[in-house]
Amino acid sequence: CRILVLISGGGSNLQAIMDTVDDNPQAEVVGVISHNPNAYGLIRAHINEINTSCIIPHQNETRIEYDKRLSIAIDKYQPDLIVLAGFMRILSDDLVLQYEGKMLNIHPSLLPKYTGLHTHQSVLDSDDKEHGASVHFVIPKLDAGPVILQAKVPVYEDDSVDTLAARVYEQEHAIYPIVIKWFSLGRLNMRSNQAYLDDKCL
Ligand code: GRF
Repeated sequence: CRILVLISGGGSNLQAIMDTVDDNPQAEVVGVISHNPNAYGLIRAHINEINTSCIIPHQNETRIEYDKRLSIAIDKYQPDLIVLAGFMRILSDDLVLQYEGKMLNIHPSLLPKYTGLHTHQSVLDSDDKEHGASVHFVIPKLDAGPVILQAKVPVYEDDSVDTLAARVYEQEHAIYPIVIKWFSLGRLNMRSNQAYLDDKCL
């Protein structure tokens, strides 16, 4: 399974994926794409001798135009699986549909709760006693694709965004590699907007 990871920043999820993928002879991270040339994740990729591409948005470029260039960059890697790991751009419907069933995302909330940004703050502003992370297939609607795996963490009264985020990150780094392994072993797929593991609807 040729895995391509799309990032924007720190790349801690990318690191967790690179650290675990070696245990799986079926899987290989073949490339990393960032839209941000300063993403620390690019350095992590270089340290791991993984090819990278930086697709920087042009001024006044439309989303459709950018996504066309992105899709050309993606296809060069001939990926079987595209992993969004903190890729902070909304993808056009066309691009998502082009890779439907082979694109995953991780989101720092217990979806369907708290789609979009600032999830940790939203949880602190609520009465929620638990929070977490979700891995899901990507569909055109933002953070709405079928959920594959979630991990929960407790929310404490004295939590700040940072302490809560750190607890969630730890779980993200645990669950993303698990889902990627399922996919690379052919155990996971999406049909009619539902996720299936070993042919069981999740
Ligand atoms: C993570 O919180 C992920 O859930 C969200 O973006 C963040 C990426 O962090 N989609 P990193 O770049 O993997 O450290």
